[in-house]
Amino acid sequence: MSLNQWTKVAAVEDVPEGEMIGVSAGQVKICLARIKGKYYAMNDICSHFATRLSGGELYPDQLEVECPLHDSRFSLVDGSPHEVPAEECVDVYAVKVEGEEILVGPREPRADSD
Ligand code: FES
Repeated sequence: MSLNQWTKVAAVEDVPEGEMIGVSAGQVKICLARIKGKYYAMNDICSHFATRLSGGELYPDQLEVECPLHDSRFSLVDGSPHEVPAEECVDVYAVKVEGEEILVGPREPRADSD
């Protein structure tokens, strides 16, 4: 599901350094991560079997999230899967900080889009 506008999803203090949380932007479930002070947002629903990725493992050095169900890893940068069984990308979103609030916005181009 796409996002068409910037939406407040969390406060800066809600996302500790090196961790991720599950948030919502309207109907869109989002996995929001903070790595070295930078925020990353990807769709929280695994492309393989609809599990929430925010319940998995964050790998800050690789900028990847590992699905808790079958261990596929997804790039926080472009949403591409780096491990099977997932073969499809998940959507990634732009993130900006205004004051103490984190906003998520329109989708970044996916790795598998033209
Ligand atoms: S549900 Fe995520 S890899 Fe299977």
